[in-house]
Amino acid sequence: MTAHAPSRGDVAVLVPAAGLGTRLGPGAPKALRTLAGVPLLVHAARRLAAAPSVGCLVVAAPPGDVDGVRDMIDIPVDLIVVAGGDTRQASVAAALAAVPPTFPIVLVHDAARALVPPELVERVAAAVRAGHDAVVPALPVVDTIRTVGPDEIALGTVDRSVLRAVQTPQGFRREVLTAAHAAAVDPLTDDAGLAEQIGVPVLCVPGDEAALKITRPFDLAIAELLLRD
Ligand code: C5P
Repeated sequence: MTAHAPSRGDVAVLVPAAGLGTRLGPGAPKALRTLAGVPLLVHAARRLAAAPSVGCLVVAAPPGDVDGVRDMIDIPVDLIVVAGGDTRQASVAAALAAVPPTFPIVLVHDAARALVPPELVERVAAAVRAGHDAVVPALPVVDTIRTVGPDEIALGTVDRSVLRAVQTPQGFRREVLTAAHAAAVDPLTDDAGLAEQIGVPVLCVPGDEAALKITRPFDLAIAELLLRD
């Protein structure tokens, strides 16, 4: 291997999986809901571990389920399970603190994106390895997007050619993600937003529709169809 060959196993993936996911209806924490009889988290972990760059997974589990989550994940790479926090951001911070020092690249992946293709993981990791400090997979927006006032009267249409719907896994040089979390003030819904707050440019690479976020019962139905292929 030359000094410039892409290294394998240089990526740790953080998986925040501690949310309750009430939009899917009452029941188990969202990451532990099943899809074709297998918890969403286990689907996600298997796909992440199938990406050759990934050498370690750090899962933030619901605090009462740490041991159960460790037992349910069967993957051929190192697995660390920590208790998640009150917010997604706190769960990511707890997972980040547990990453062994040998991983220069850290990805953050929502367990709810259970069907993430390993190729997408590799695409994000490769862009970080190529020198980008923060990388997100993103898709063009297909709907017409309008802003509205308090009375639901439309105010205007946004130019969708400059919009992207952002997915996970989001990739970072490890020091960048650590600095972004250390500087975080207000909770944000993703980690690239935190990197931006400390002035780090975020590169968008092509996302993948199969990495949809399973949030509502409709998304579960789509995911079941995708599994049949
Ligand atoms: O609620 P939302 O869909 O934005 O959650 C995104 C991801 O963050 C999910 O995988 C969820 O399990 C995780 N999360 C977490 N800790 C929380 C809240 C959400 O790990 N306190």
